[in-house]
Amino acid sequence: MSAQDAAAARLREFTGREPDAVWSAPGRANLIGEHTDYNEGFVLPFAIEHRTAAAVALRDDDVIRVTSTFAPDAVGVSLAELDETIARGDLDWAAYPLGVAWALRRAAPGAAARGVDIAIASDVPVGAGLSSSAAIEGAVASALNDEWDAGLSPVSLARVGRTAENDAVGAPTGIMDQMASMLGVADAATFLDCRTLETDSVDLGLRREGLSLLVIDTNVKHSHATGGYRERRASCEAGAAAMGVPSLRDLSVGDLPRAQELLDDVTFRRVRHIVTENQRVLDTVWTLRSAGPRAIGDLLVASHVSMRDDFEISGPELDLAVDTALAAGAIGARMTGGGFGGAAIALLDDGQVADAGAAVTAAFAASGFAAPTIFTVRPSEGARRDR
Ligand code: GLA
Repeated sequence: MSAQDAAAARLREFTGREPDAVWSAPGRANLIGEHTDYNEGFVLPFAIEHRTAAAVALRDDDVIRVTSTFAPDAVGVSLAELDETIARGDLDWAAYPLGVAWALRRAAPGAAARGVDIAIASDVPVGAGLSSSAAIEGAVASALNDEWDAGLSPVSLARVGRTAENDAVGAPTGIMDQMASMLGVADAATFLDCRTLETDSVDLGLRREGLSLLVIDTNVKHSHATGGYRERRASCEAGAAAMGVPSLRDLSVGDLPRAQELLDDVTFRRVRHIVTENQRVLDTVWTLRSAGPRAIGDLLVASHVSMRDDFEISGPELDLAVDTALAAGAIGARMTGGGFGGAAIALLDDGQVADAGAAVTAAFAASGFAAPTIFTVRPSEGARRDR
């Protein structure tokens, strides 16, 4: 069953009513540009065909209730109590949809906010580095934008999603995932300048070239609300402050020798990853446009090496996935997303997909790692109202 059908069925079961409509938003994979978003740099993600759907029906009162196929116990709160409920911070997964409602009301104070029942279903794998959270945010933000006549643009809805993530869920992420989920275009990646939020779609040409993108989910779960992600962000901010710039976006490769003199070794390597990664995103966009997808392999691999050695957010499973995919003939491969687990992507010929997948599965078994989940993804359309 599609996520849209499952969400509508859950709403019927929960309320006995038909949804007013069903909205959905995709997860994303990131082709290149990791941890650059909160440094106001460049990223090149694409929306995937796995989607999260929200079936929604307006109510006659001011109560918002959310339920889902994965956590059927409904959480309800009146709009009047939304601020306190969010501030209490004890909502578990409901912090995503309720956080979006809260953030959207702040972004559009004139909106005709009223009670709604929201039922969510998703086929985006959770904790795999494919932005299941941005998919929930995008679906709910799109739904409430329409139901409440808020009139916000897709970019404003992406900001709403990030506010929910940062302030209601408590994960100090950037805006890449929400922008990719809101603005995705079929067969293309979204080149995003995270300082200006300007986007440009970049044709990937995968079909034309007979290429596939393989996702290797290591099934090592991560959370960005705690631990390593937050620490990396703090190091980047400390590095920028020590270099006297507002953010690491303002440094280029030519500044690295001075950074090495000024910074301690760990901070320097964190900074070097961000500065070189920004350059790699620009180089990838240029290469895709001038030479096509077969020419970007070295950039993908260099990005992985930088995350492994300088930013230190990879891990044995991710490294093995990348190394094995490359040994099996992939053009390029890298971990994707926030790191500390999650997924790697590999770019390879259509005809190599089965063998590369089998090689990675065998390598994981030989190393005693839990079996990975392997599937291909197609760059797909962003958030929309489905019906
Ligand atoms: C997570 C965050 C994003 C981004 C990536 C790393 O997916 O949600 O904002 O920082 O990690 O590139």
